[in-house]
Amino acid sequence: MNILNAQQQFKNNGLISFENLFTEEELKNLASDFSGIKQENFSVRWGDKSFEPLKEKLLNYLKKKNIYNLFEEYFGKDFVCYVAQYTQIKFENNSISDEELVNKGAETAFHHDNIGNRLKFNILLTDINEDANGLDYALNSQYPSKLDKTLVKILNFFGLFKNYEKDLLRNLKRKYIDRKKNNFCEENKILKKYKVIKMYGKRGFSYIFDTNGFHRRAIPKKNLEGERKLLTYYFLSKKKFDFFIKEAYLKRLGKSDNVQKKN
Ligand SMILES: [Fe+2]
Repeated sequence: MNILNAQQQFKNNGLISFENLFTEEELKNLASDFSGIKQENFSVRWGDKSFEPLKEKLLNYLKKKNIYNLFEEYFGKDFVCYVAQYTQIKFENNSISDEELVNKGAETAFHHDNIGNRLKFNILLTDINEDANGLDYALNSQYPSKLDKTLVKILNFFGLFKNYEKDLLRNLKRKYIDRKKNNFCEENKILKKYKVIKMYGKRGFSYIFDTNGFHRRAIPKKNLEGERKLLTYYFLSKKKFDFFIKEAYLKRLGKSDNVQKKN
């Protein structure tokens, strides 16, 4: 596929995957920053001393492999990579119903990540087959409807819902009428409306997805043994990073007084 087709497909679907983007040596180099980590979930964030070299290492690979421009196309020139995360979780089997998962807001129920259009870049460090804890993704579910966009524009005029990129009407109905977790959705509704694809593969399989689209950690149908090791990098447009994230991160570092919130 040429790069223009790839960009278009990525924009339409909210997801793009790569079989063999990295050599084994490159994978080892990326994973080396997390060697010796015992926690299930460990992340290094924007502002942390160790974050910059670790981020640059990934971005250099992405530039070399012509993947960087996919992020530029998605966000415009100004975007920020702000988290590098390492997860190692034992395969988990769900015996509880989808309804319960949705009600309690489990990662294994369909949801969006409640921050608008944000990209995550995942790199598998272990083999994952179809029945393991990969990712289920509802294609083309990452943008709100025209009606939602128009309503948000009107509300913006009154200073409300700044940088709101989620589906407005569905979220409001879920929150105030259904009294459910607004960013979660029942499986049957997702399957009726969207084509869902499964992300799994061998070590090194990687994919970028928009967390504003509906997704869930896949649920194995049978008991499995093993674990999923995964590298994840978070990306936002600079405008949204400054609006939603920067101040909280600076506060964490004890530097909040320097920050001017920008729209
Ligand atoms: Fe999520």
